[in-house]
Amino acid sequence: MKIIAGNWKMNGTPGENSARLREIKAAVKEGENRVIVFPPFLSVPDAAAILKDTAIGVGGQNCHPRPSGAYTGEVSAAMLKDAGCGYCLVGHSERRQYFGESDAFLREKVIAVTEAGMIPVFCVGESEAEREDGSYGQVLRRQIENALGGLALTKETFFLAYEPVWAIGTGKTATPEDADETMGMIRSILKETGLPEDLYLLYGGSAKPANAASLLSRKNIDGLLIGGASLKPADFAAMAAYTDGDE
Ligand code: 13P
Repeated sequence: MKIIAGNWKMNGTPGENSARLREIKAAVKEGENRVIVFPPFLSVPDAAAILKDTAIGVGGQNCHPRPSGAYTGEVSAAMLKDAGCGYCLVGHSERRQYFGESDAFLREKVIAVTEAGMIPVFCVGESEAEREDGSYGQVLRRQIENALGGLALTKETFFLAYEPVWAIGTGKTATPEDADETMGMIRSILKETGLPEDLYLLYGGSAKPANAASLLSRKNIDGLLIGGASLKPADFAAMAAYTDGDE
């Protein structure tokens, strides 16, 4: 079983996304993989309704850690759950970079998402400079230890995504060998932090039909978190249809 997740980011009006959801519903065949879409908030209720009788899950792209209150513009984990979400992204590099979200704040979100009964899909990843100067191992360790250390994570209730920032939206994919090696390093960091090393690990960063099978066939890669290519129903469906031995 692989996890094939599409992060739509800030794309599509509700009308456009309803059409996209119907196309995805028609194109994605039920199979062995767990398929999830993360539309913008305004399309979450439509996603829940359109995908109701399918095995495709729905997730939010973000949430606020508090359950309610004076946080203008924010959405709580309980609101997402009630609207039909089973998952929520936490700590995407775009949230860290453009909205200044700290490890400590992301830790609160992981707890809130879990308490609301959803699966956090927690994202980590290094910048291009950190990859080049060799400090990426320390960066990943810091992101994992600070946000997740001491939490009771399980394979069934928490997914981790490795998204090297330099590979997001750039067309530069980490080679399957590099991604696999770094994700092996993440498993060691998890173990050394006292967390389960067998968590589902998703790779994200310019994943597309042409490279999906070679990424998914690696030992440490249990799924994909797909941005741009997930907006095209045929491409998303092709990746969702991966089976072992496809490479
Ligand atoms: P791209 O697939 O567009 O590079 O985006 C990856 C990503 O950020 C998914 O969360």
